Amino acid sequence: MEDKNKKEIVLSGIRSTGNLHLGNYYGALSKFVKIQDTHDCNFFIADLHALTTNPNPEELHANVKSILAEYLAAGIDPEKANIFIQSDIPEISEMYLLLNMHVGIGELMRTASFKDKARKALGIGNAEGETDEEIEKQIIGAETNKRVNAGLLTYPTLMAVDILIQKATKVPVGKDQLQHLELTRRFARRFNSFYNVDYFPEPTDFDFGGAPIKVPGLDGSGKMGKSEGNCIYLVDDPKILRKKVMRAVTDEGPQAPNSPMSEPVQNLFTLLELTSTPDVVKHFRDAYADCSIRYGDLKKQLAEDILAVTTPIRDRVNEIMADEDYLRRVVSRGAERARERAAATLADVRRIMGIRKF
Ligand code: TYM
Repeated sequence: MEDKNKKEIVLSGIRSTGNLHLGNYYGALSKFVKIQDTHDCNFFIADLHALTTNPNPEELHANVKSILAEYLAAGIDPEKANIFIQSDIPEISEMYLLLNMHVGIGELMRTASFKDKARKALGIGNAEGETDEEIEKQIIGAETNKRVNAGLLTYPTLMAVDILIQKATKVPVGKDQLQHLELTRRFARRFNSFYNVDYFPEPTDFDFGGAPIKVPGLDGSGKMGKSEGNCIYLVDDPKILRKKVMRAVTDEGPQAPNSPMSEPVQNLFTLLELTSTPDVVKHFRDAYADCSIRYGDLKKQLAEDILAVTTPIRDRVNEIMADEDYLRRVVSRGAERARERAAATLADVRRIMGIRKF
């Protein structure tokens, strides 16, 4: 490997909670591939973060393996980027404990992703207009014997540690992770100022030009997400993929020329913009504007264009999954490299915080 010291350190990860979907691909994975030649790239599988939703132990490992294969199949090259598994780096867990001493439970409870996940864990409805206090009351309230685990609350601390322990300055993520990145900067500043050191850099989102990406789901609202059941997976069989797209929510069609688009239809156009050529997008936009559009045609085209992206990845995933030796080599080398930096940072942090040996 060439001299990486001069390159900016990039780090990002994906939770091992199931197969990767188009949101992960466009929000994260496809961007990882673009920058691996020009940056000191570190991409990992966040299996400790996956534990926050208490997965079945058998599934956890299978998910780590499939995401690893998907990383490689999508074009992340272990000769160019460092690939590792979060739980292979024990320094992360120790620094998570240390950093938590400077993180407020209030600021964690106000994090959008926490409120969302806590609501789901408790089976509370997603009532708009609920105040923070009302939600917090429900989370700590005694009215239920369901529980929100502390790991879910401290999820942003762990994510901040992933980034800070590698001294990364650029973090390519989708729009939904920007609040976590903001917290990471806040924790870095707080640590520096509390100990009066200039130690942690403040990481920012990787600027690819253009707005941060939010890939919508097929159910007419919100973002594509594993827990939403509105996903197209990179490894979806073509038959299933076509069926999912054909079933995507739409509306009754434009009733007058140049009508505004409903959210479900806008979402289909967003997917089309990500996967199709500008000509195709223009064709359907014009057809929408003059009311000649047939959503069935748009969906057929969309399904084929998505398949053109996913099919080569799916083929390679199957090949790579069969090569256990290769997978083992990739992550053991990755862990070795990631641990070098992590151990150096942890030693500094322990010293700065006053933990000394006799
Ligand atoms: P996770 O597993 O939820 O998502 C992984 C990446 O995929 C992006 N993403 C999306 N982007 C656009 N549209 C969507 N519908 C969509 N769904 C998911 C996410 O923004 C993310 O970039 N907390 C992180 C994992 C993590 C991490 C880190 C990331 C742990 N430590 C350190 C960066 C740095 C997460 O939840 O990923």
